[in-house]
Formats: sequence, structure tokens, C-alpha cells
Amino acid sequence: MKVLIIGSKGFIGSACHSYFQHAQHCEVHGADVVAEYNDPNYYVIDGSNSDFKEIFKSQKFDWCINCAGAASVPDSFVNPARDYLLNVHLVMLLLTAIKENNSSCKFIQLSSAAVYGNPSPLPVKETAALEPLSPYGIHKRHAEELCELYHNFFGINIFILRIFSAYGPGLKKQLFWDLFKKSQINGDISLLGTGKETREFIFVSDIAAAIDTLINSAPTGFKIINIANSAAICIEEAAKTLLTNLNFKGNLTFNGVVRRGDPLHWHADTSLLKDLGYKQNIGFEEGINLYCKWLKERE
Ligand SMILES: NC(=O)c1ccc[n+]([C@@H]2O[C@H](COP(=O)([O-])OP(=O)(O)OC[C@H]3O[C@@H](n4cnc5c(N)ncnc54)[C@H](O)[C@@H]3O)[C@@H](O)[C@H]2O)c1
Repeated sequence: MKVLIIGSKGFIGSACHSYFQHAQHCEVHGADVVAEYNDPNYYVIDGSNSDFKEIFKSQKFDWCINCAGAASVPDSFVNPARDYLLNVHLVMLLLTAIKENNSSCKFIQLSSAAVYGNPSPLPVKETAALEPLSPYGIHKRHAEELCELYHNFFGINIFILRIFSAYGPGLKKQLFWDLFKKSQINGDISLLGTGKETREFIFVSDIAAAIDTLINSAPTGFKIINIANSAAICIEEAAKTLLTNLNFKGNLTFNGVVRRGDPLHWHADTSLLKDLGYKQNIGFEEGINLYCKWLKERE
């Protein structure tokens, strides 16, 4: 089986790349904008003119996993055009390249729980209304619509994975990275929000395992699947778990200000993922421990 990972140098992409490199009967190829001279199965993409057609002309893949894109809600307010290019335009380029040169290649699109906004009722099912709260969430929804269009009109097999909050080695953004940076400065830490907001955290290698489970189920058609562990945790508890692990001795407070674009509560219905056979490998405490080890190695 030949797998191509787009964005293979990113946080989730690199975890998927190393996961599939160790998988049996799998030849894994990577593609990203970062130069790499030692891997014959790697394509350097020109970020200003991403041409994926040559890749799909040069050889035929069974699966393309799109781990490229932007993954920051606050940045999507500051630079919505960049977010659009990475989260929508890139998907269009990829799907067109597949349609014209390798139409049997199945496509996995990493989407986000941000498409739901503030979902109700919880736990949220894949059939829930999509009411994103940020340019990022709106662009991820646009990308999903493009995927559906390429399935309906051009017959490409496409699987949308709505990932909830990912964490693990390699993560240099969002809550846990922010806390790590703040913990290095002496004093107390203040965070936005109330701390009572809830999220679903999934360890990055479990995302790769979930993708593997999907691929092994030999799916066809068009499917949308929540990627999480059905284990919502409040931000205060999540933050304290990390800070305890980092041996932080100061106080943690919340200023009550809700950052625009941030949903209040997420809790995923993962019945579809579980039906495929997915099982969580890394629990939250263990995952935070592994992440903190990685953070400490960097110091
Ligand atoms: N990190 C999360 O918590 C999270 C949650 C839900 C969904 N997602 C989605 O998962 C995907 C990956 O997120 P991430 O956190 O790994 O992001 P990341 O920024 O770490 O990785 C993205 C990668 O894409 C690469 N890239 C950019 N332009 C490219 C191009 N033209 N061609 C090829 N590669 C290109 C970047 O160089 C980078 O290595 C994004 O689509 C994001 O929206 C992430």
C-alpha cells in the first residue's frame, strides 16, 4: 500500500509519517514545504505555487492523507487570507491533482471540531449542525464541502476526520505550549476564560492509529468521522495536570474573558470511530507525561 502524507513535517503529519513508516506493507511518502535531501520518498512543495499534479503523475498512491493546513483559531482572525489559502485552496489543488491523475487514490482530509462551533446537544454527533465561530472553522467547513463536491461529481473516495484537540510531542502552539512558555517565567499564570470550558484531548499517535484503523476498514464513498476519545475534561484540570508535571509552583488563575472564536464545551460522540475498531492507546495523564518529557528534553 502506498500512502502519501501532505504536510509530513508538521505536528500531526510527522506523527503520521513515522507511524506509517513502521506499519507493515506500507510504503510511505511525504510532502511539505520544508527542504529535505535525504529521503527519496519526499517531495518538496513550493509553498507559493503548490503543484501537486506532478506528484500524482509520477506515481500512483492508494491513500493521500492531507495533514497540511493552518491550525490556529487566533491566527485565522489576524490573517484570514493565509488561513483560506492553507485550509481551502490547498485542498482544491490536491483534489484536482488526484481527480486528473490518480482518481483511485482515496483522500483523507484532516478537518476540525471547530466546524461545530458551540455544539448542542453533547456529545456531538457528525450529523450535528455546523456553526463555526472563526475564520478557521468556516474554512474547515468550506474544505469539507469541497471534499463532498469532489466525491459527488467526480467519484473520489473521501474521508473527513473531525479532529478534536490534538496534543503530544511536536506541539508548539495552543494551550499546553502556551502554559509551558508561561511556566518558564517566574510568577503566576493567568489564562483567558473561566477554566470551566471543556475539551476533548487526543494524543497525536492516537490520531495516526485512528487513521490506520480507518484505512484498514477498506472504506469507500464519503464519510465524516469524529476523532476523539469521548472523554471531555475541563481546561482548569487539563492545565493543572500539565503544570504539576512541569513542577510549576505558582498560582493558576483565569481572567474570565472569552477569546473570540473559542467554543465553550466540546464532547464528541465517537460511536462511528469505535465501530471501525479504534481503541485509545494513550490516556490523558500518560499523554501529558510524554509531552512534558519532550518539553523538558528541549530545555
Ligand atoms: N493541531 C490540532 O489540534 C488540530 C486539531 C484539529 C484539526 N487539525 C488540522 O490538522 C492539520 C494539521 O495540523 P497541525 O497542527 O499538524 O499543523 P502544522 O502547522 O503543525 O502542520 C502543517 C504542515 O503543513 C505544511 N504545509 C503548509 N503549506 C504546505 C503546502 N503548500 N504543501 C505541503 N505542505 C504544506 C507546513 O509546512 C506544516 O509542516 C490542519 O489542517 C489542522 O487544521 C489540527
